[in-house]
Amino acid sequence: MKITIFGTGYVGLVTGACFAEAGYQVMCVDIDKEKIERLKQGIIPIYEPGLDRVVKENYAAQRLHFSTSAGEGVAFGEFQFIAVGTPPDEDGSADLKYVLAVAEEIGRHMEQHRIVIDKSTVPVGTADKVRAKISSVLAERKVDLTFDVISNPEFLKEGSAVADFMKPDRIVIGADSPANAERMRELYAPFNRNHDRLIVMDIRSAELTKYAANAMLATKISFMNEISNLAERLGADVENVRIGIGSDPRIGYQFIYAGCGYGGSCFPKDVQALARTASTIGYEPRLLNAIEAINQDQKTRLFELVSRHFDGAGNLRGKVFALWGLAFKPNTDDMREAPSRVLMEALWAAGARVQAYDPEAMEETQRIYGAREDLVLMGTKEAALKGADGLVICTEWKGFTAPDFAVMAQQLKQPVIFDGRNLYDPSRLQAKGWTYYGIGRGA
Ligand code: UGA
Repeated sequence: MKITIFGTGYVGLVTGACFAEAGYQVMCVDIDKEKIERLKQGIIPIYEPGLDRVVKENYAAQRLHFSTSAGEGVAFGEFQFIAVGTPPDEDGSADLKYVLAVAEEIGRHMEQHRIVIDKSTVPVGTADKVRAKISSVLAERKVDLTFDVISNPEFLKEGSAVADFMKPDRIVIGADSPANAERMRELYAPFNRNHDRLIVMDIRSAELTKYAANAMLATKISFMNEISNLAERLGADVENVRIGIGSDPRIGYQFIYAGCGYGGSCFPKDVQALARTASTIGYEPRLLNAIEAINQDQKTRLFELVSRHFDGAGNLRGKVFALWGLAFKPNTDDMREAPSRVLMEALWAAGARVQAYDPEAMEETQRIYGAREDLVLMGTKEAALKGADGLVICTEWKGFTAPDFAVMAQQLKQPVIFDGRNLYDPSRLQAKGWTYYGIGRGA
């Protein structure tokens, strides 16, 4: 079985590389010539644990191929995965122009039956639009060819994407015939050996499943962030509450960490896109709107704590803050919608400077903000502390969880931590002479 993947972003590249790793012949197609050239040289555009090896080895073994030619891609694989971006429109809805452009190419170049699979996160009804686009191009060409459209949403997590693909907790297939479902079952067989992880349903339900999964996870986080705001005001500690409620298996321990807000390329975009879909069909998505609004507020919490400590934002002019963690979460260099950006931008607006350290996202930060006087990227987490008026933590990288507090206190002008990820025990730090602010830690 041969597979073509359109789009070498994070989803497309991981999908392509992992299918090749399973032994399939895979061609990854992208319109970005430079990116394809670099991939051929083994230069991976994103930091994702394990991806580097899988791409390089499979390219060397000639199972993984790269191309900028849509025609070549359509001719190559019986399975044609669409894994291009769906950036948010001005109104928050997902922009389908790239998805439909690929559908058009498939219609234009196909010479035999093709199975077209939506892998990108796309609104309910997109499979119908893809089908309509391919049909109209085929009609223009006056050729009589058959094709199928299947929905197969992606549930990879950045930072563990390769492992998630190789050992998925579920493979959701939206298919309109048992025969199509069977083709997908066969395709995924190498990843579905010990337990049956394949869940087959109708196409629209599969499309909605993807959004519902992300919206549910975002709901858990915004809920806990709301509880953290209550805890702070009520003299309780959200970390105790988390452990207390997580012990109920119906609630569970995962995704109930309060913090400085969720970021990334998925939750913010997908919650908004689903809310937008709801509005367009005349349904007011009250909960979805609240999840998003709570998250936006939560991203300003750290700045609020900093301003309050210094008796108002007016007193931040000329101050220097050490910042640990720039990426939206650990094990990635992704800065999209990262809480660190909201914090830094607020500090800059107040006239403060930032000395930042992140194990992976410094290049990306440089790319986004360029050279500016009020941002210095430091080589180590210790260097970032030198002469700073306080430390702010935005990402829970492993290297931040057990630092040497005595050394830290010597580097900082005053021993104060604003911890957006609740990494430390407040009473222990207070006993060592620190002023410690966490999220929702009023006790
Ligand atoms: C998310 C989903 O977890 C994946 O299942 C999904 O496939 C993916 O989106 C996608 O749609 O492509 P990802 O964006 O990589 O994955 O990151 P997560 O690990 O889900 O974290 C998202 C954000 O939530 C991070 O900013 C993280 O810090 C925050 N978070 C997570 C919390 O604030 N509290 C928690 O308890 C958990």
